[in-house]
Amino acid sequence: MTESICRVAGQGAYLPERVLTNAEISTFVDTSDEWIRARTGISERRIADESQTTSDLGYQAAKAALADAGLDANDIDLIVVATTTADLVFPSTAALIQDRLGLRQGAAFDVQAVCSGFIYALAVADGLLKGGVFNRALVIGAETMSRILDWEDRSTCVLFGDGAGAWVLERSQEGNSGLLGYDLRCEGRYTPLLKTTGGVSATKTSGFLTMEGPAVFKHAVKKISNSMERLLEREAIDIADIDWFVPHQANQRILEGVADKLKISRDKVVSTVARHGNTSAASVPLAFHQAVADGRIQRGHLCLLEALGGGLTWGSALVRF
Ligand code: UT7
Repeated sequence: MTESICRVAGQGAYLPERVLTNAEISTFVDTSDEWIRARTGISERRIADESQTTSDLGYQAAKAALADAGLDANDIDLIVVATTTADLVFPSTAALIQDRLGLRQGAAFDVQAVCSGFIYALAVADGLLKGGVFNRALVIGAETMSRILDWEDRSTCVLFGDGAGAWVLERSQEGNSGLLGYDLRCEGRYTPLLKTTGGVSATKTSGFLTMEGPAVFKHAVKKISNSMERLLEREAIDIADIDWFVPHQANQRILEGVADKLKISRDKVVSTVARHGNTSAASVPLAFHQAVADGRIQRGHLCLLEALGGGLTWGSALVRF
């Protein structure tokens, strides 16, 4: 029997309408457009309306991905949502999206790996599809990070934004396009560097996001580069053969630092951090979508994805689109 591969049958994204600029943030915390752009590369981010939840954003992205794949919701039998900002403690955001899509079949659950969530979720869905448990999956990264920010803390509130991205994965017996491999890591001992101040079991609240920025920055460049090198070596792929580098969008300086370290030319780097800020688990599929929409990423292109987030969790994935 030929080995199966999971191809990306479609992809889509959704951004809330409200744009929050650096200039506007500087009216309520002690910061400036100049500082934010120089230290992070961010100019603006989107913020979900009070009436919108993570599942609303994820649902819109899922619909866009299904339309792109030319498929109907009933063609899907697995939904995996990567999120840190679930609508409810339970049921999962995936279950809520499944209901919105009118689906009554298959399985749906959330994956919690913070900013690395989409990479983790791809790996989980890929394994279940290749194992023959399901046929087609929606993998969604969706976040309303604005809900867990302390809007009086200038060191964090300027960094994050809301949004969602989704991929439709489908098991295929033909061709060599699809998900090729992963490198996934976690070291929980770094929890104090990036966490929330609460949680339902610890404080009965969600708390606010706190981060030791410079420490996370150093871990990010080193750990992401190592992860990508391990993955490329395992898959016997030369870095020169990568068409597009689609990194987690935390900071322009991090993604350029990683690209430079691995000698990836800057014109192969997909960057949306200026417009989206850090949308956690949504950032990689949002950036990917942008580059497909503007014609840079095309069918057959080899793409290297990566992310690092709370845990610390981190990882990378290789996909031939
Ligand atoms: O998605 C999860 C992964 N996250 C990341 O990878 C983020 C990693 N970290 C970073 O991107 C950067 O560390 C930050 C963007 C968070 C911070 O940039 P930095 O260059 O590391 O700045 P810093 O934290 O060392 O702060 C430098 C100065 C400090 O002032 P003093 O102590 O030098 O007087 C801060 O108080 O900048 C000050 N500062 C600000 N000033 C104006 C911190 N935040 C702001 C702000 N506006 N928003």
